Amino acid sequence: MGEPQVVDFDHHSREFLDDRHAHWARMRQCPVAYSPNHGGFWVVSGHEAVTRVSRDGETFSSLYRPGAPDGIDYHGIAGVPRAKGIPPAGIAEVEGPLHQALRRVINPFMLPPAVAELKPFMEDLTNWFIDRKIESGHMDLVLDLTNPVPAVVTMRIIGLAGESWEHYAKLFHGTVAYRPGSPEYQQAIGRVPEIVSELLDEAKARRRSPRDDLLTRLVEVEVDGRRLDDQEISAVLWNLVGGGLDTTTSLTSLALHHLGGHPEKRQRLIDHPELMVPATEEFLRYFSVNETLTRTVTQDVELGGQQLKRGDVVLISWLSANHDEAEFDRPGEVVLDRSPNRHLAFGVGAHRCIGMHLARTMFQIVASAVLRRLPDYRIDEQATRFYEGNPMLAGVVSMPATFTPGPLEGPAERPF
Ligand code: HEM
Repeated sequence: MGEPQVVDFDHHSREFLDDRHAHWARMRQCPVAYSPNHGGFWVVSGHEAVTRVSRDGETFSSLYRPGAPDGIDYHGIAGVPRAKGIPPAGIAEVEGPLHQALRRVINPFMLPPAVAELKPFMEDLTNWFIDRKIESGHMDLVLDLTNPVPAVVTMRIIGLAGESWEHYAKLFHGTVAYRPGSPEYQQAIGRVPEIVSELLDEAKARRRSPRDDLLTRLVEVEVDGRRLDDQEISAVLWNLVGGGLDTTTSLTSLALHHLGGHPEKRQRLIDHPELMVPATEEFLRYFSVNETLTRTVTQDVELGGQQLKRGDVVLISWLSANHDEAEFDRPGEVVLDRSPNRHLAFGVGAHRCIGMHLARTMFQIVASAVLRRLPDYRIDEQATRFYEGNPMLAGVVSMPATFTPGPLEGPAERPF
């Protein structure tokens, strides 16, 4: 092993943000490389190396704990530089027994049986939101559909009032959709402490009057003989609300956008609904809406021919891994029935996405309903606005569309 492979890589630069795929393709020439920007960090872009890093949580820690007693500044998962003003992710940025205990508490709300139970509600919800617009012949596919459905479902799972979805969604989308420093971003970040304290108040109310919901389980769980403190509870809620509100919305919006521009693929999915299952995996791979995350190196280690040191920060790119030519044939194409498809869009290892079953089902319900009820939707490309300036998350802010009006079909009463 010689000198480290140094590259001038800056994922916050305009050039990168304007053409991510070209930049990642260049980075994959050396799938583990060092960038001196933003204080210095390793960039891991190949499928094999990203898989190895995320499977080995002991060496590549997700922990957020600056100035830990062992002398390491644990950087957490939230970007290089770490996003300012965003609370720690209470599940994704803890390790060991606390992490395992939290997964045990949350899993019963997220595993396939719980998702199957929620399915009729998700279908009603989707049809109800489509009904609000279907007779008019136009709707904003993001603001009127892909945004509210996952948000209301997340509220229900956590045990929050369904009608509060917009309140939380506005704030969360504001923190991820805009470039750090922009007025929209600053406004959203400024409101984070208030929202976190509201979430905590909800949890505290369950301490006084327990219910049969995730919030109650969270305030009651014991780890190593103690209950979670307020900070831990708010961090878990932040993580769940953030995970639930943003990513599925983005996946569904980007997939509908793609199908809007590829009528032959749209028709194929309409004619062959059974393709929706492999197509879900393909859209997950292709868009990798959670594009990058970070880890901290806990002990000197060799990776991809490079020597990483204890305390180093590592940026892993799910997006790049999912477009690695060494793993995928024609990675730049959406192949609806791609098989095999070993994508890493939900991560891999101990921190693999806890909401993945829910996300897949929600995506399929919403996308199938659009294809069935608004099969000829036409997107107003001029008015469509994508997330800008965030190398961690991709998504769509707003996507107006028109279509042939259709009949009402959902429940007469609001289902939440
Ligand atoms: C398309 C949808 C989604 C994508 C692409 C996605 C992506 C990811 C990824 C890549 C991770 C791994 C993080 C890591 O390794 O550090 C993750 C973890 C996580 N996701 Fe998702 N996610 C999605 C939907 C959801 C939903 C619907 C929820 C909750 C309702 C959720 C909640 C979480 C949580 C709590 C974690 C942390 C798990 C842990 O650290 O043990 N996600 N997600």
